[in-house]
Amino acid sequence: MSKRVFSGIQPTGQGHIGNYIGALRNWVRLQDEHEAFYCIVDLHAMTMPWDPKVLRRHTTEKAAELLACGVDPDRSVLFVQSHVPDHAELQWVLTCVARMGELRRMVQFKDRSRGESESVGVGLFTYPVLQAADVLLYQAHGVPVGEDQRQHVELMRDLAQRFNSNFGVTFTLPEAWIPEVGARIMALDDPTQKMSKSDMETRPSSGLMLTEDPASLTKKIKSAKTDSGTEVRAGDGKPELTNLLTIFSAIEGVPVPELETRFAGSGYGAFKAALADAVVAALEPIRLRYEELMGDPGELDRMLFKGAEKAAAVAAPTMDAVRERTGLGPRAVLTPQ
Ligand code: AMP
Ligand code: TRP
Repeated sequence: MSKRVFSGIQPTGQGHIGNYIGALRNWVRLQDEHEAFYCIVDLHAMTMPWDPKVLRRHTTEKAAELLACGVDPDRSVLFVQSHVPDHAELQWVLTCVARMGELRRMVQFKDRSRGESESVGVGLFTYPVLQAADVLLYQAHGVPVGEDQRQHVELMRDLAQRFNSNFGVTFTLPEAWIPEVGARIMALDDPTQKMSKSDMETRPSSGLMLTEDPASLTKKIKSAKTDSGTEVRAGDGKPELTNLLTIFSAIEGVPVPELETRFAGSGYGAFKAALADAVVAALEPIRLRYEELMGDPGELDRMLFKGAEKAAAVAAPTMDAVRERTGLGPRAVLTPQ
């Protein structure tokens, strides 16, 4: 039987090429051979201060972006997290299974709270527990994500294991499925930091958006930071070139050593021009499709509701089992008056 996969993405602004290479491309590939659940995690987006109107708009935009990248709502289940209330309910149960110490060790929490752990929202601290609920509800095996999510997937396994041993086997233990190339794309202006949505708000030249126009993509790639040498080579002492070669390799499907041979002696200018052409060729169809889809947001919302119906039907038996095994018992069924 094909393995079930689950992944999520926050509806917080425009996606970038790191999201595409590290995660979304694999979401698209996996839907051919697996039963795939892809979730726009609006509850997670509430862990940082938010504006209700912007959250709604970003949720619809994220759906358009995912479809434009090739997620197909006929072959996978695409839905919004808050449309299936079981996510929040299971999160509470798992919060009561999780320990302070294991959440305190989460690197993403440490990064986002930047040492201000007394003043940040509690949601940011329990974020990984909600993420565990997302995956465990669907009994998913594979979690296609970028490298930064590895620790969160390990936590889900730990919580699933603890729950299973305390209350009886209920959850499948999930695994992180992280790509071999491109699991961590770095910022174009600073190869020590990963490319990230939040940094792109203050430093637009740090990343390439999926729906950015060709002229702007080309300009950013041509002005990407490089070392003072001339050799197009990945490896020690060349973090900028390593990152650009990784992007090239991932989108063209050509191994890095082959690219090093192709661009031997050609200098950074010619290499960057070729990279810009390759990136534009990969992203241009996504941008055009995105714009077309955003022409009918009502249709996107209808598609998301259908996805939520399919997701809810799969989540319910897990939640029922959790309720029963933890002593909560069945949920009340409201009869129409
Ligand atoms: P986020 O942008 O944090 O919502 O992440 C959405 C997905 O993209 C997750 O699976 C991340 O692991 C992945 N991702 C985010 N940033 C990068 C990056 N710079 N390189 C590779 N994958 C990334
Ligand atoms: N935390 C993930 C991120 O920042 C998003 C996410 C939420 C997720 N729930 C998930 C990823 C479940 C995989 C599975 O990218």
